[in-house]
Amino acid sequence: MPEREVEQHIEALLQERRTFEPPAEFRAQANARDESIYEEANKDPVAWWAGQARERLTWFKEWDRDFNWDPPHYQWFIGGKLNASYNCLDRHLDEHGDRIAYIWVPELDGETKRITYRQLHEDVCRFANVLKGQGIGKGDKVGIYMGMVPELPVAMLACARIGAPHVVVFGGFSADSLRERMNQAGCKVMITMDGGYRRGNTIPLKANADEAMQDTPTIERCIVVRRTGDDVPMQQGRDLWYHELMQDASADCEAEPMDAEDMLYMLHSSGTTGKPKGVVHTTGGYLTQVASTHYNVFDIKPDRDIYWCAADIGWVTGHSYIVYGPLTNACTSVLYEGAPDYPDKDRFWTIVEEHKVTILYTAPTTIRTFMKWGVDYPKKHDLSSLRLLGTVGEPINPEAWIWYQEYIGGGRTPVVDTWWQTETGAIMITPLPGITTLKPGSATFPYPGVIADVVDDAGNPVGRGKAGYVVIKHPTPGMLRTLYEADDRYVETYWSRFGDRVYFPADGCKLDEDGYFWLLGRVDDVMNVSGHRISTYEVESALVDHEKVAEAAVVGAQDPDTGQAIIAFVTLKGGNEGTEELIAELREHVAKVIGKLARPKSIIFTDELPKTRSGKIMRRLLKDVAEGRQLGDVTTLQNADVVEEIRQKATLRAGEE
Ligand code: WTA
Repeated sequence: MPEREVEQHIEALLQERRTFEPPAEFRAQANARDESIYEEANKDPVAWWAGQARERLTWFKEWDRDFNWDPPHYQWFIGGKLNASYNCLDRHLDEHGDRIAYIWVPELDGETKRITYRQLHEDVCRFANVLKGQGIGKGDKVGIYMGMVPELPVAMLACARIGAPHVVVFGGFSADSLRERMNQAGCKVMITMDGGYRRGNTIPLKANADEAMQDTPTIERCIVVRRTGDDVPMQQGRDLWYHELMQDASADCEAEPMDAEDMLYMLHSSGTTGKPKGVVHTTGGYLTQVASTHYNVFDIKPDRDIYWCAADIGWVTGHSYIVYGPLTNACTSVLYEGAPDYPDKDRFWTIVEEHKVTILYTAPTTIRTFMKWGVDYPKKHDLSSLRLLGTVGEPINPEAWIWYQEYIGGGRTPVVDTWWQTETGAIMITPLPGITTLKPGSATFPYPGVIADVVDDAGNPVGRGKAGYVVIKHPTPGMLRTLYEADDRYVETYWSRFGDRVYFPADGCKLDEDGYFWLLGRVDDVMNVSGHRISTYEVESALVDHEKVAEAAVVGAQDPDTGQAIIAFVTLKGGNEGTEELIAELREHVAKVIGKLARPKSIIFTDELPKTRSGKIMRRLLKDVAEGRQLGDVTTLQNADVVEEIRQKATLRAGEE
């Protein structure tokens, strides 16, 4: 990130100077209430994590060695045996079988379902047998493309039960994106739904899946959950109804003992170039860090809390903090199917009030949207059940933090701003709500057992009061082991920037005078739009894929609502004109190729793109244009005059909005 951008950002952050001590009452009852947790972890991080693995999980067989590091590869809890589904379900049954695992809140009123641990266990066992019946066994990959219905965690846990890694693709992704991910993983089965509900409309999941499956040679079966009841074509010999298979399946299914290092799942994430990355997570290490962080960061009291992580399971936040974390800790969660503004803009607060939610975890973008809608919506509801709030996915501006704490948390609740990534699997930098004095906008300190620092370009610690890159100096149990079938890319992306012993997350960060971490956003070509990671490269490829487009350059420009917004600069092939209709067509095209989430907010047509003399597109300059900044030196440009033209067009467009 260039110096002046960092400075601007920091200045905005530091305007908010208030600090928030943990309320005495909260501290007194907190799971982690004593600073010694940090001291103990610092003394011997590996031993500390091993303690967490023992404390939070049930193992079929204890491991032989805590940790092995052969940089940049590592293993945790070597030789240990366990099963994730057993940890999420079976071990709770004797004492807590009747506890609610999920309160499923559908988008439409009237059919809230309360699913106990016992029921969930039964469904998971049945579905595990269904999968076995379709020839799925240990190591086979299972694709999942679904909306937020209870059958989604059932499908994931059934996979985990028999040792078949799941590959979940967010329901907002297009058929093309789904196909690419299914083929990259080599999935044998796909699980989907007839359709999903979203703001009263239906998302044609099965139709998308059908389109994807026109060219997915490894997929033999498609299992379809009925949700909307829409008439969908079922291909003979390939497609099967979930409810029919479940009827005949036995509810008896032993959990497969898995090696700690066996793959639990892979999940795709955007990279700076090329194909999406298949991030590989293991069973033992991943579950340890997820369970530990969920328990301590959210201060979980399994017998009392109603916990709600309002993310989508299609992203890592949902994997870790809707499925594996809460269930491992035998917690009761809200699982919400729909959007925050359906049927009205107080839907979240209706849910909090009705189900007496105690802990809410959501994204800064969502909070900023609530701010825009105004305080009247939350004020209409009794939110006094809330005792803790959390955020994830992007930097939170202090204003949004304060608003969240004040209007949603009633000025009482701690707010935990949690920094982590798909690759880290679980929270890495975060307050502990019973211990940490909070500063709005700062994720505060590394979690116990996480050794993080901020370094300069040469990899030297910047020290307090300075900004640089955040790095992780020792692998944690939950971190990715590799990129699926792309180990070179794994080494290159994460373990090369500062040598093979330092993990490089590609985030800028400032350490303040008190040693607090202030995460500043990506330093690579990955955009963060509404907390979703999208690579500039992917959007450019999608645009260039359109027949009328010659060249495209995409940048993420700062946006007050979505964090960043996608701005595309496009040159057209000869004879084509940049009309409003073409803008609409290109946006639709990107939606088709990637998914609606990747549609550019603005498209600016230009005769040329600014390039260096060696022919590289000057993205940095376009970002300056998109963000309305003064342009610096353009003398290294091959075609300096195009910049002025683009700048004028961009200003014009901004005026039109
Ligand atoms: C950003 C989401 C600032 C960051 C769990 C990271 C954050 C990327 C925060 C990962 C936070 C996530 N403060 N930035 N609290 N949390 N990020 O893989 O840039 O979807 O690298 O994982 O989101 O996004 P991902």
